[in-house]
Order: sequence, then C-alpha cells, then structure tokens
Amino acid sequence: MFNRTPIVGGNWKMNTDLASARSLAGEVVVASRELTPHCEIVLFPPFPYIATVGDVIRGTDIRLGAQDVHHKPNGAYTGSVSAAMLVNLDVTHVLIGHSERRHAPEGVAEGDRLINLKLKAALEAGLTAVLCLGETLEQREAGKTEEITLSQLDAALEGVSADAAAQIVLAYEPVWAIGTGRNATPEDAQAVHRLLRQRLGMRYNEELARATRIQYGGSVKGSNASSLFSQPDIDGGLIGGASLNSEEFLTIVRAAAETVAA
Ligand code: PGA
Repeated sequence: MFNRTPIVGGNWKMNTDLASARSLAGEVVVASRELTPHCEIVLFPPFPYIATVGDVIRGTDIRLGAQDVHHKPNGAYTGSVSAAMLVNLDVTHVLIGHSERRHAPEGVAEGDRLINLKLKAALEAGLTAVLCLGETLEQREAGKTEEITLSQLDAALEGVSADAAAQIVLAYEPVWAIGTGRNATPEDAQAVHRLLRQRLGMRYNEELARATRIQYGGSVKGSNASSLFSQPDIDGGLIGGASLNSEEFLTIVRAAAETVAA
C-alpha cells in the first residue's frame, strides 16, 4: 500500500471573531506537536484573521489555508484576494470549488470554468490547491454521483500539467452531507475516492494517482472519523463544524494520524 500522509483541514467558514480565531488556533498548536509527524494539519480561517492565525502557528508544522482565491493576479476586482496576496501572508493551501461557492443560492455560483481558472492561478502561485468535488442529493438520488464527480474533476483539471497536478489535494464532499449531520457510509465514500484516484491515473499516471491525497468532507466528527479514515483511499478529512471545537477537531486529527501509526 502507498504511504500517503493524511491531511486534515479545519474549514472555519464565516465563523469565529478575532479573539476566538486566535484562541482556537492556539489550542490546536498546543496539542498538535505529537500529531503533525503523522498528519498534515491545515487551518482555513476567514480572510481577515489569516495574518493573526499565521502568527499563532508560526514555527509549528501546522499549515495556513485560505477559503478562496481570485483567478486574476491583480486589478479592479473589488472584494477579491489574489494568490500572491495569500503567499505574502505565508498561506500554503487554498480551497477551490467548495460546494458553498459552487452552489450559492444567495450569491454568485462558481461554475466549472471559473474553478478551473482559480485552480490554475493557485498552482501557478505555488499554493497547494484543495479541490472540492461532490454531488447534490438530487444528483445522488438520480444515480449520477460518479458522472458528476468525475466531470467536476475533469473540468477543473483542464490544461493542468502532471507537474502542477502534483500540488493538488482532492476533497470529496457530497453536498448533502455538508453541515447536515448526515454522511456517506465509509464504503460509499471509499467507492468515490477510488474512482477519483483511478481517473487521476488515467489522466496523468499511476504514480501521481497513488501519491495524491483525497480527503473526505461532510459532517465528519470525532465519533465517525476513524471508520472513514480507515478506508484505503480516504486520506483524512476536510472538517467544517467540528473544526470550531479544538477538542473535537484534534480527536479527528488523531484518528487520521492513527491510520498511519497502525
Ligand atoms: P461540515 O463541513 O464538516 O460542517 O459538514 C465540511 C466542509 O464544508 O468542508
């Protein structure tokens, strides 16, 4: 079996304030030292708190992430943040195509083309892109899970070289499982993860497919993390709600680290 270091991300979404962002990051730092050799930890705070969280985690192995990036390097794009600005703040990871941006009923929904541009902008800047994919409940019930996730993957990777693709982490997040308390069974999630890995092998090569981490996301908690992470193609998780509580988040990180130690 290929030895991939699992990766667990804490996606804080539009939560925390300055003080709680600082203390949450601090709590993760304290408990993470013995875990980071076995599991990569990335915190994705809201944009205004990135610098603060960066200060708290400086000198540790915890990585700093952003929840979004604009696809252009600079210019008249009110409210947007470029990849270079993120790099300036020592950000190393960025979420691309999160379902709350793909399917934004009250905002501007991001389509495959924009996601492809963002992915390329992130990779060109040297960031690790966490590319999020997943079907809606309607699509799952219509039996389209495979078709949708593969087409999202193919569209996002259009024009991305194998060298650049080596900087990508995939996050399979069924939309119906995000923030709902429902999650895919470990076996169902594993089947999609294996499919995504096979597709990477077909598009690029077997080595890249074997080396790429594929996280699962959607209502992961301390109580269900181990059964998900013990699947052979699930390499950690992208955690929303449960990442706002350091104890719960660290239980999840520990579950991921144990899959390596085991
Ligand atoms: P959740 O969110 O853990 O709250 O379901 C996961 C995500 O959106 O990345």
